[in-house]
Amino acid sequence: MIDAHTQIYGVIGNPVKHSLSPIIHNGIFQRLGLNAVYLAFEVNDLRKAIDGLRGLGLLGLSVTIPFKTEVISFLEELDELAGKIQAVNTLVNERGKIVGFNTDWIGAVQALKGKINLAGKRVFLLGAGGAARAIGFGLKKESAEIFIFNRSQEKGEKLAKELGAVYLPEFPSLKDIFPELIINATSVGMAPLVHQSPLPADLLQEGMIVMDIVYHPWHTKLLREAKLRGCQTIDGLEMLARQAAAQTEIWIGHKPDIALIKEDLQKALTQPSLPSPDYWRIRNDRDQTTT
Ligand code: ATR
Repeated sequence: MIDAHTQIYGVIGNPVKHSLSPIIHNGIFQRLGLNAVYLAFEVNDLRKAIDGLRGLGLLGLSVTIPFKTEVISFLEELDELAGKIQAVNTLVNERGKIVGFNTDWIGAVQALKGKINLAGKRVFLLGAGGAARAIGFGLKKESAEIFIFNRSQEKGEKLAKELGAVYLPEFPSLKDIFPELIINATSVGMAPLVHQSPLPADLLQEGMIVMDIVYHPWHTKLLREAKLRGCQTIDGLEMLARQAAAQTEIWIGHKPDIALIKEDLQKALTQPSLPSPDYWRIRNDRDQTTT
């Protein structure tokens, strides 16, 4: 029951009505029997939102687009890897001192570690946006050997340089690099353009591990083709669930059950009203105009 002791957490972003974070975190709080709620705040003025976090004494917030980088300038303390990624998705209010973390890389690395020891493994990373940066720095931390391709070459080259990775200027023949792991960190395949895949199916070889960050739908064309070709697959819900679980650990020191978070997410994504189709359309339109 909500009462005078209820703790408020939430996500700040814009747009934010599509966010699955309230479903994830309220599910976690309920299973733990915590007197806490998690809300979505559509923010226009980030400075005022951070003042609100301090002023109201909230204990923690998630941060999503478009504020993950901008928010860094409002923090008292920044986690080292979040600083390298230049993106923060988690805020903790330590008695008025706001500390920023990035749990996207943790979600990705934990999802991968369930299937593969990353040290020395050859990884083909597709994309150079926010998600690819977080995953790339996670892979580097785990000493993987990274090969990057991105639609916009300049952005891809910049990320490759930061990661000490190899940039592949043309869409590669994967026979040349023999990756053990392929990660799609682009938005290709996201609803409503579910018939798209970021790479031709004939590049997928039996035994490879293929991870997709796209979670709407979670059975993407890439993952369906990978399974047909004998690859092991990791879906986008895995990373989404694990980055949220890492937030719970930061906020309240508890490791929630990943399988139960994924169940909640699958239920939410199969309800036609959640998330709003408008959001996915806006995202796909935006991604297509970034060429
Ligand atoms: P996110 O925060 O989810 O990573 P982002 O920062 O906008 O979102 O990055 C989106 C990524 O998907 C980028 O690597 C983008 O490529 P560009 O850097 O060339 O924009 C990639 N992407 C989006 N739509 C794409 C498409 N149709 N084909 C290839 N890559 C695409």
